[in-house]
Amino acid sequence: MSATQRILIMDLGAQYTQLIARRVREAHVYCEIHPPTRDIGWIRDFAPTGIILSGGPSSVYDLDAPTADPALLELGVPVLGICYGMQLLAHLAGGEVRQAGEREYGRADIEILKGEGLFEGFATGSRTPVWMSHGDRVDVAPAGWEVLARSANTPVAAFRHRTKPLFGVQFHPEVVHTPRGPEILQNFLFRICGARPDWTPGHFVERTVREIADRVRTGRAICGLSGGVDSAVAAALVQRAIGRRLTCILVDHGLLRRGEREQVERTFRGELNTDLRVVDASRRFLGELAGIEDPEEKRRRIGHTFIDVFEEAAREVGDDVGYLVQGTLYPDVIESVSPRGGPSATIKTHHNVGGLRPDLPFALIEPLRELFKDEVRQVGRELGLPEDIVRRHPFPGPGLAVRILGPVDEARVSTLQQADAIYLEEIRAAGLYDDIWQAFAVLLPVRSVGVMGDFRTYGNVVALRAVTSQDGMTADWYQFPHDVLGAIATRIINEVKDVNRVVYDVSSKPPATIEWE
Ligand code: XMP
Repeated sequence: MSATQRILIMDLGAQYTQLIARRVREAHVYCEIHPPTRDIGWIRDFAPTGIILSGGPSSVYDLDAPTADPALLELGVPVLGICYGMQLLAHLAGGEVRQAGEREYGRADIEILKGEGLFEGFATGSRTPVWMSHGDRVDVAPAGWEVLARSANTPVAAFRHRTKPLFGVQFHPEVVHTPRGPEILQNFLFRICGARPDWTPGHFVERTVREIADRVRTGRAICGLSGGVDSAVAAALVQRAIGRRLTCILVDHGLLRRGEREQVERTFRGELNTDLRVVDASRRFLGELAGIEDPEEKRRRIGHTFIDVFEEAAREVGDDVGYLVQGTLYPDVIESVSPRGGPSATIKTHHNVGGLRPDLPFALIEPLRELFKDEVRQVGRELGLPEDIVRRHPFPGPGLAVRILGPVDEARVSTLQQADAIYLEEIRAAGLYDDIWQAFAVLLPVRSVGVMGDFRTYGNVVALRAVTSQDGMTADWYQFPHDVLGAIATRIINEVKDVNRVVYDVSSKPPATIEWE
């Protein structure tokens, strides 16, 4: 899926690498993240419009420090090194990188020494706040390089080569704490690399639809719909390319939110005229889950049952099914090429429509492999999907099963569905839905004493969770106006039988996760 222009981001291990990519995409320039092990031949073939070397936790003097081929500096392609990336540039250029007297974290003010090029639009001699996070630093610009900015603790806060298009910044222009960071990155993209801002949802849809139509000339494709944004957008894209040769399958595992199945049916059957098959497998799933309390065991059973049900449904679609559509997003793709590549601890076994048996005779179509979540939403809008699908909060594959702590049964699913529906209704009514990344209710496995009328009650506790986030990787709890929170609690306790207490979760991720299981 080639864009005409593209920025290559080499991931040297920073937690902020994805943020760099987001900022570049927000400027409507296509970019990809790759490990630093890509050799110079590969980079030439990739033909980047510009290269960004990310930050990273290493010191250039570490034995296993990630590095880049020095030939990179001779390609004639503009390079911007950020933090560790800048130190690497200095190191490759024969300069010296030293341990800073003190590690520098957080806000610093830099003084602009040259208000042009990378700092076009900044007055020479002016100061601007930036976000620093480094242990090492470049003390003196290497021979042939000039200093563009400095701060009290960092004598070379930004530098450039005098004749080649090579630049480095010690601070992080990609984080929100560097308020004018986007300008600096855009100066690099547009003034230095000469990139054009042509990466737009409209272009993406046009190109992707053409490519899918070219690829799937005969036969059928199937797509599992979950009610979430990703599978909905993937299905709508493929449908635009091949029409009713796409069949969508919604496996109702009985653990969906209230009204979710009906909404998917309305949108896809009604508005988009999709060939949608709904498989009601709630009995089967609840049977598998009976008596199971362990979160990982719940996830495992749901994942396996899902695969069985989906595959049975897929076989019924016909013999001419050659393709399976999946809503895989870019963050899932990049993780698998992380420069460290090592196994990271399994926090939760994610269940998605993916993970089907490898011997299934389907080729994969993953039209969203290049996109971040917010871009998926823009593409959904471009395709004319209704706002309540495009804007909806993420929902986990295992559904309400991981929001009912302890054993899952029909009665508890119904209790949670009611509480959750009230919660979301009130959030929408207060106009807060779009401020929140994800909001949901959780049914706890404890009972507490209450009093209703003159009677003692011994009822369920519902926890409310709402978080803000950019990508679900880190999250903060949402600061609800207290009157809204109070109104939600009152309604849930009054309207949902057997619930007599509501609590609000004020944990961030990390150390908590977004879901409770
Ligand atoms: P956690 O709870 O790990 O969740 O902080 C991060 C994001 O991922 C969603 N999530 C899932 N999504 N299948 C999914 O498709 C899963 O098994 C799954 N588990 C968690 C979660 O809702 C949040 O948005």
